Amino acid sequence: MDFIDEKIEQYAFDHTSEESDLLRRLEEETYQKLEIPHMTTGRVEAQLLKLLARLVGAQRILEIGTFGGYSALSMAEALPEGGTLVTCEMDPVAITFARKYFSESPHGKKITLLEGPALESIKTLTGSFDMAFIDADKENYSNYYEAVLPLIRPGGIDRGG
Ligand SMILES: C[S@@+](CC[C@H](N)C(=O)[O-])C[C@H]1O[C@@H](n2cnc3c(N)ncnc32)[C@H](O)[C@@H]1O
Repeated sequence: MDFIDEKIEQYAFDHTSEESDLLRRLEEETYQKLEIPHMTTGRVEAQLLKLLARLVGAQRILEIGTFGGYSALSMAEALPEGGTLVTCEMDPVAITFARKYFSESPHGKKITLLEGPALESIKTLTGSFDMAFIDADKENYSNYYEAVLPLIRPGGIDRGG
């Protein structure tokens, strides 16, 4: 379903910074190999996520819903050396796909992928996060929000995709 006029989408795309070559390749292969490829975040939203990460000076980010890894790698690019991103995914095909790209990227070492149902993975997490991106099954969004909120530091960002 299209919510935004095509011309506005195109304008936003054309005026958003280009992604890295690796992310472009990841997106292309996502469309060739994964089911429901339009679930990928894509350039415009991923660059916004990177901007938000930089604005809050993120050192630790949590993502719910890895899919092919586009948004995870994009946000990892915005993290400083020593920063970490935890991402949760339960689809084994997506997990294998994303891990391949994480291993190819110099930013992949910042990423920890937790396999299995996200609500279970979240229960294992401790410490605080500067930012969370909730982008998994929509029917669980309120559950994710409640589970993630106590993990976000005061002034951090908790956002749904
Ligand atoms: C919209 S896609 C995520 C897109 C991703 N952020 C990106 O930029 O490419 C949603 C993902 O959530 C995963 N997912 C759905 N339910 C889940 C659950 N209960 N636990 C973990 N992952 C789940 C799906 O397998 C799918 O890969």
